[in-house]
Amino acid sequence: MRSPSADNGISRRMALNRMGVSALGLAFMNFSRLASETKEETLRTVLPKFDERSRALLSQVLEDPKFSGRIPARAVEALAKSEHASVDDLMLGLLPLARTYSHAPISNFFVGVVVRGASGSLYLGANIEIPGQSLGFAVHAEQSALSNAYMNSEQSVTSLAVVGGAPCGHCRQFMEEISPAGDILILIPNQPPVKLATILPAAFGPAALGATQGALPIRKAELRIIRGPSDPLSAAALDAACRSYAPYSKSPAGVAIRTTGGRIFKGCYIENVAFNPSLSPLQTAVVQLIAAGQTYSGISAVTLVEVQGSKISQRAVTETVLAALAPQVKLQVVLARG
Ligand code: THU
Ligand code: ZN
Repeated sequence: MRSPSADNGISRRMALNRMGVSALGLAFMNFSRLASETKEETLRTVLPKFDERSRALLSQVLEDPKFSGRIPARAVEALAKSEHASVDDLMLGLLPLARTYSHAPISNFFVGVVVRGASGSLYLGANIEIPGQSLGFAVHAEQSALSNAYMNSEQSVTSLAVVGGAPCGHCRQFMEEISPAGDILILIPNQPPVKLATILPAAFGPAALGATQGALPIRKAELRIIRGPSDPLSAAALDAACRSYAPYSKSPAGVAIRTTGGRIFKGCYIENVAFNPSLSPLQTAVVQLIAAGQTYSGISAVTLVEVQGSKISQRAVTETVLAALAPQVKLQVVLARG
């Protein structure tokens, strides 16, 4: 059972009382804007067992104005050293922090994940439910952390830590696309590590639909804009489309979100051989925004780039999800060609 109060030494009620916030996720939503004393207090609350030095190190990473859920390899090494822990144990230790990014207004069920990329960097992820919308639009914590590794161009993912229980079937299927060989190591507190292939036997993998590789490493496509403005937001969305993974529909797509603070968050479309676990480009971009501690109210513009005449379009789903998150923002759609 994946209960926020039952594991890793964190009691949700205790954390909320101490922080005086209405949802644990809110504690970090504006992390970049919190006073540094509050930041340290928050870290002390969610990572009480960490050494003071480790929390200071982590604060530095989180305070980087470009932070978006990635803990760079060098910081990972330093943290493991200061905690006298293996990277696997460090990943398990960081789960309560990952979970603070959860946005689960429908279930109030907060899931945190930490993923390790081949570069040695770690990626935080949490579940994101779209308020008032279909449950099918929810991004699972595993998808969130894995898509973050994808967006950071990891060659592969070596391990995934999740708090409280095993990843659900949907997430196992999503992982299969990231690692069709099934060799991602799954770390669950107080359980022996297990490979994906062990918990997803007889997998329905990319080969079933003729794909010869999984989603990583990214293979970049050459696309150019044929209709629409070529402003920086379109250029960012075009880059995300070029780096998207759409071997089944052959319909690459990318999204870029601009915030009132002037940051741009990109999201690649990431398909799955079983179709439903696919992530739309807006979902992937929202993961980046949330991991950076930003709020939906900061969304000021969104551009979708897709290929003219493709088999499927992301326009309708992007408009629907955007209307739920930032109703004042009108989606700009830019068409491209291969
Ligand atoms: N959830 C995950 O994030 N990962 C899992 O593997 C199980 C379920 C999320 C999805 C939804 O936001 C909430 O938990 C309830 O299912
Ligand atoms: Zn899941």
